[in-house]
Amino acid sequence: MHTTAIDRRRFIQLAGLSGLAAACKPSWLYAATEGRYAREASPEFHADVEFELTAGVTSVPMMPGKHTVVWRYSGKLLKGPETALVDLPGTHLGPILFFEKGQKVRIYFRNDLPEANIVHWHGLHVPQIMDGHPMYDVKTGSGYVYEFTITNRAGTYMYHAHTHEATGRQVYNGLAGLIIVTDAEDRILDLPRGEYDQPIVLQDRSFDADNQLQYVQSMRDRHMGMLGDEMIVNGKRHFVLPVATRAYRLRLMNGSNSRIYKLAWEDGTPLTVIATDGGLLEKPVTRAFVMLAPGERVDLWADFSGRKIDTDLTMKSLPFSGAMPGHGDGRGARSGMDHGGQGGGMMGHGMMGVMHGGEGGASGMHQGMNRMNHDEQSAGGGGADGHGGMGMASNSALPLGGEYAVFKVHIMREEKETHQLPSTLTKHDRLQRADAENAQSPRKITLSMARMQWLLNGREFEMEGASPEETITMGTLQLIEFDNGYTTGQHGMGMSGMSGMAHPMHIHGQQFQIIERKIRDDLSGGYDTVSPGYVDDGWKDVVLVMPGEKVTLLKRFDHFKGLFLYHCHNLEHESMGMMRNFKVV
Ligand code: C2O
Ligand code: CU
Ligand code: CU
Repeated sequence: MHTTAIDRRRFIQLAGLSGLAAACKPSWLYAATEGRYAREASPEFHADVEFELTAGVTSVPMMPGKHTVVWRYSGKLLKGPETALVDLPGTHLGPILFFEKGQKVRIYFRNDLPEANIVHWHGLHVPQIMDGHPMYDVKTGSGYVYEFTITNRAGTYMYHAHTHEATGRQVYNGLAGLIIVTDAEDRILDLPRGEYDQPIVLQDRSFDADNQLQYVQSMRDRHMGMLGDEMIVNGKRHFVLPVATRAYRLRLMNGSNSRIYKLAWEDGTPLTVIATDGGLLEKPVTRAFVMLAPGERVDLWADFSGRKIDTDLTMKSLPFSGAMPGHGDGRGARSGMDHGGQGGGMMGHGMMGVMHGGEGGASGMHQGMNRMNHDEQSAGGGGADGHGGMGMASNSALPLGGEYAVFKVHIMREEKETHQLPSTLTKHDRLQRADAENAQSPRKITLSMARMQWLLNGREFEMEGASPEETITMGTLQLIEFDNGYTTGQHGMGMSGMSGMAHPMHIHGQQFQIIERKIRDDLSGGYDTVSPGYVDDGWKDVVLVMPGEKVTLLKRFDHFKGLFLYHCHNLEHESMGMMRNFKVV
């Protein structure tokens, strides 16, 4: 059995050792010639916590045999509590960053990768220049000093690469980590802590025969999103969490590039959710299963009391459908196009026609992806007679919407404890539609596709571009709608009545509240296999929008002017330009 639980005490000891260096300035700082940081530290900012975060190439033992080359953020604490940085040794994941609400944080980010990089603090509300916008990416050998105050509620957040056109590949290579924020409100509750509070980062990866990571292999991977062949949890294969017979807080984060999970315990025990992206819910919510799309987090109250010692309990992803063309019934992998048949449903006409526009082979596809300026029709031609592997059906050994094990818990030992799930956790300030500046005219963001590009309101990413509809007055509450074909009956694929694709939509800055979802009847195939697993009650920064669905939300734009991204958190979509700026003025 591979046990890779996070024994925080041990890590704290490790962090403590590196903490001895706290009084010293980072060596790199001294070695650096003047101006190596694209943004320097400001002397007026008095940090409570200060650390170096270096993006570099390393190799880790992800499976037996040869080590896997990964890109990793590694940390070194310079100032502050030694518990602030907790390493996950032997993995590609960066250290877990433990922050407290109100803390002032300075991060000396250094790029030792062979290409540009920049770090984004997903879910944290920080000024534009601290947010890791791709316009700030720094070259090899350079760096960027971040300085910001933690104003977020207690919760599970993350950091990851956000480099122009490279986010998907860089995160896949390993550039991501967790952020855990605590505050007084969280501390006052009788929740499981210490070793009973476990982060669980869900990712999927494919490896070649040499144990090396394999990224996008086909047009399908690039266009629909990368799906790996196996689960990697907290950076490890076959992850097993050893537990005692008592209550735990499990902080689940979907760190996958494109994989959507439908999480459920194998024995049908319901999931008790106590927090989502932006922290604690008002009260615990119980679901038979919980959907977790890329970028989303959910904290579970998981009580293992009464379970038999030496037994296992598997967290599975259950079958669902409708999230992706060719995956209509959750059994679609390797069917249709991949076998060269005519079977792939809608793909036979719309998309595949476009995809065969070049010359049908992989290189033609790639050119096509890079930018075909003629429109879909003129590029069309091929039809469905698939060139093997170029279809939209997944080649992954773990098809999206299939049924598979995600991780296991192993009941190790008996332990009596008295934790009771609190019936109330917190009180939310409920945002009201009537208070929105645009209560009568929501800002509509349509998700679509044309010319081989996923688009937002028909537009692709522009580094510093923002349209009038994307320009927002600071200090206002905004009503925003993500429309995935609800209104047009077309969603993404350019033909009505076709099954489209689910998009997990993310907005930088403050957390939002979801106030309404609507689904189009004629496009609702599979919706019932997904929607009962939504947890929309709390503060969110990512929302899954299924084909035919429209999601309405309320979000404040306070404190900071400037450009703040919103995008699909399917990272292949993001990297291809399914991203835009809100300009707060
Ligand atoms: Cu987690 Cu702009 O992303
Ligand atoms: Cu973000
Ligand atoms: Cu998307």
